[in-house]
Amino acid sequence: MSKIEALKLIGNTPMMHLKTLDPKPGVEIYAKLEFMNPTGSYKDRIIQYMVQKGLDAGKINKNTTLVEGSSGNTGASVAMVASSMGLKSIVFVPDKCSDEKVAIIKSYGAEVIVKPASESYEDAAANKASENENFYHINQYNSQLNPEAHYMTTGKEIWDDMNGQIDVFVATASTGGAISGIGKRLKENDPNIKIILADPEGSVYKPYFDGKEDYLSYKKPFKVEGAGKGVLVDAMNFDILNEAISFNDEKAIAMVLRLAREEGLMVGGSSGGNVWAALEIAKKMETPAKIVTVIPDSGFKYLSKIFNPKWLNEIGLGHLVVE
Ligand SMILES: Cc1ncc(COP(=O)(O)O)c(C=O)c1O
Repeated sequence: MSKIEALKLIGNTPMMHLKTLDPKPGVEIYAKLEFMNPTGSYKDRIIQYMVQKGLDAGKINKNTTLVEGSSGNTGASVAMVASSMGLKSIVFVPDKCSDEKVAIIKSYGAEVIVKPASESYEDAAANKASENENFYHINQYNSQLNPEAHYMTTGKEIWDDMNGQIDVFVATASTGGAISGIGKRLKENDPNIKIILADPEGSVYKPYFDGKEDYLSYKKPFKVEGAGKGVLVDAMNFDILNEAISFNDEKAIAMVLRLAREEGLMVGGSSGGNVWAALEIAKKMETPAKIVTVIPDSGFKYLSKIFNPKWLNEIGLGHLVVE
């Protein structure tokens, strides 16, 4: 098998009907299982797409080092794609990134630099990339190739998986690449599909979408990784949204634990937010309706956090632990 074969494992993930959650007959919740990608998250899609575009444009060659700032998942994808293409990679992560995520990124041979919360890991990546002409900045927060990758792959697959039978697509956003790209594809195919943002309390996205002038003042810390943001970024397209609903750490994590026990799905915190929001929307729907969401990553990445009773106790969610 050639080294490039690992990249062929990216995408074409399964769509699962979360039957135990359907709130009433005819109202169905579906989730695209993106933890089935090689590094366990849908970020493999954007990095494969962006690196291929860089190769096609002659901006990436065999001497290139990929540089990126990431809350963890994108870093793993950068490191995996670099490894499978024989390139080097440097990844900046925030100190809130779980130990497992750091270990995963390192396992692919990347250099990992952990930044304290007081410093921007994204700015650190941008500064590093400007140091050397062989450094290529992926720039997931601001590159339009990020939503384009989801428009070309995830959005198309979701439409095909559901045979176009979709009433609502709901998901969290961090870079916004997934919801912007998927939303654009689905709305182009059927303008009646509603695109709904699920946003953690403490993110500025929902306040901004709701027209709050002081939206930046809504920023506060929260635990769910890969959801929400404290600033606006170019990859996030608010024009694609019909609505935004908010959730908190407790709702997301309770749903993560429920999905593992009731659906056989061990997933990350943003998946909990997504499915919690999908269920809230589903409860209000007239029949019949199909609500679609995504499972962005695997629960294996949070063994030291969401699946660790000690950590749940530390963050005041010990009551969610099931013995
Ligand atoms: C676990 C997880 N869920 C959801 C997202 C949100 O995806 P996007 O950055 O495309 O908005 C991310 C991205 O960082 C993530 O890592």
